[in-house]
Amino acid sequence: MIVAGCDIGSLTAKAVLMEHGKVLADAVMRAKTRPSESADEVMQMAMQKAGLNMDDVGCVVGTGYGREQVSFVDSVESEISCHAKGAWHVRPSVRMVIDIGGQDAKATRIDKNGNVVRYLYNDKCASGTGRFLEVMAEALEIPLEKMGDVGARSTEKLTISNQCVIFAETEVISLVNEGKETSDIIHALHQALAKRVASLAKSIEVAEEVVMTGGVAKNSGVFQAISETLGIQLKPLDGMDPQLIGAMGAALYAQEKAAAAQEAV
Ligand SMILES: Nc1ncnc2c1ncn2[C@@H]1O[C@H](COP(=O)(O)OP(=O)(O)OP(=O)(O)O)[C@@H](O)[C@H]1O
Ligand SMILES: [Mg+2]
Repeated sequence: MIVAGCDIGSLTAKAVLMEHGKVLADAVMRAKTRPSESADEVMQMAMQKAGLNMDDVGCVVGTGYGREQVSFVDSVESEISCHAKGAWHVRPSVRMVIDIGGQDAKATRIDKNGNVVRYLYNDKCASGTGRFLEVMAEALEIPLEKMGDVGARSTEKLTISNQCVIFAETEVISLVNEGKETSDIIHALHQALAKRVASLAKSIEVAEEVVMTGGVAKNSGVFQAISETLGIQLKPLDGMDPQLIGAMGAALYAQEKAAAAQEAV
């Protein structure tokens, strides 16, 4: 049976179509103001890629902060559970997931079966999130996708001391005006974000095998900075886009739900 997961996050909407544990198609788009519209559009995008329509999909599970507004889901699951399930499916040896999305950062410990043991998240402010990096990329007039590569060229150690995104942006502009290199400023921003996220992970005890999910995991500078701050090398999610892990986890829940329904018949 074909199943789907739909993850309506604060900044992006994601959909994954799966059959027998394999991804058939996926889609990511910038979230619209109304979560229901994002959900409809991102599902259409994924189904179009796979040459399917809604009648072909046996079960859909929704997740993400907008999950309650999605009209076509059969049930909903928390983002914490979906990122855990998705990451564990890709890498069964993983015992901790760090998800950095647009609006918050979450650290989750999981057991050998992919179930959530403990979790902690920071949604108090934007300082340890993707939005923080987006604001800084705009201030530095650099594409977000290039931050990892540019930061890697850093030669001078700088420190960003303000946690608040507004004050940190002012600090960044001051550093630019002092003539500091963009690469050094970006490196310092990655370090600042890593410090915040690592302290979250340390609060629930860092596991031996840790992966990073969410859109920020695509930033190689943050990936490396978190590895260094935690004193372990984060593991890659071989071949899978980290931003899609939550939607994939939701699709895996849909698969379990569909299998249970079939057994009950
Ligand atoms: N190619 C990329 N390179 C670097 N960073 C990226 C890239 N694509 C996305 N991002 C980062 O990912 C963030 C969005 O992540 P994600 O899609 O996981 O958020 P979300 O699920 O909508 O948010 P949340 O889970 O907090 O509600 C962006 O703010 C941006 O910082
Ligand atoms: Mg998310």
